[in-house]
Amino acid sequence: MTNNYKIAVFAGDGIGPEVTQEALRVLDVTAELAGFTVDCKHFPHGSEHYLATGELLPDDVLEEVRGMDAVYLGAIGDPRVEVGLVERAVIAGLRFGLDLYVNLRPIRLMAEKFCPLKGKTARDIDFVVVRENTEDAYAGIGGILKKGTDNEVAMQQMVYTRQGVERVIRYAFETARKRDRQKKLLLVDKANAIRAQDIWTRIFAEVGEEYPDIEREHAYVDAACMWMVKNPESFDTVVTTNLFGDIITDLGAVLQGGMGVAASGNINPGKVSLFEPIHGSAPKYKGQNVSCPIAAIAAVYMMLDELGQSSSAAKIEQAIEKVLSSEDVTSVSASSGISTSEWGDRVIEALRQL
Ligand code: IPM
Ligand code: MN
Repeated sequence: MTNNYKIAVFAGDGIGPEVTQEALRVLDVTAELAGFTVDCKHFPHGSEHYLATGELLPDDVLEEVRGMDAVYLGAIGDPRVEVGLVERAVIAGLRFGLDLYVNLRPIRLMAEKFCPLKGKTARDIDFVVVRENTEDAYAGIGGILKKGTDNEVAMQQMVYTRQGVERVIRYAFETARKRDRQKKLLLVDKANAIRAQDIWTRIFAEVGEEYPDIEREHAYVDAACMWMVKNPESFDTVVTTNLFGDIITDLGAVLQGGMGVAASGNINPGKVSLFEPIHGSAPKYKGQNVSCPIAAIAAVYMMLDELGQSSSAAKIEQAIEKVLSSEDVTSVSASSGISTSEWGDRVIEALRQL
């Protein structure tokens, strides 16, 4: 295991920089406690940089990032810029450019009081969504013809390749096996209406033959949303398409306490991977020191886990749990009464006490 990690940091837009700052403080303390070092290189790319320079995500930046150990991203999105332009360039640019084909999104309730479901405990909400991250409607095949006229045509293709589907399904089977809990994998799709998704049905069955210890389950995405609310305890590992994964993990984020706590890893196993909170840039809270950085801090423990520092990762997770369970913590929203930096202080204090 290396003892020094080079991390590319894109703090990004809106609340991105302030939550990233707390996440990196936690990372520094963790490194100090565990005896490894971290070199962060900050990249300015995001909406502010685009507005100032017209530059999005140049190839040489992508190339440089490829040589680092991991990428940390705060949040991207700014209402002053055309919808989706910088998100596509920076978030999708990194996901596609680094071929980060897995978007790993754990849904785990860390403090019971934050669960919006009646009668559910922390034991009931503990699953992981493996979202495909480089294909589907996100592949960028589509556009608008004769825009603004009566003959306007708009289309966007859902693209699934055998290789792309197979590798993410395989990763999901491995995840179910490693979790070693309910030993089952749920495929979520809409193959009854979107017949192209039959490729998911077939590859899921094919790859599944190699995992006789993992039970295979299937749900259409509409039903999966219902079950996530009704019986979250029946979920263990889920694999799904890029778009459905995007949608169901916002629902999952709410089940685990809200966007203030949900983190994700954009992973290409063994290669440079990217970690980020699931929430957006929340422009209205920018610079106010009111946003909860717990999701951003959770992204740090996912990063350390992927880098092989699993005991440090577990400590951050424990520290977060401890902070959230404190009696005076009643919310992880911007109105929690706890400032962004105080959240960071609290996690660091809990870490030092472990
Ligand atoms: C996410 C986000 C992105 C996505 C947006 C910002 C393009 O919602 O990471 O979940 O749709 O993937
Ligand atoms: Mn999303």
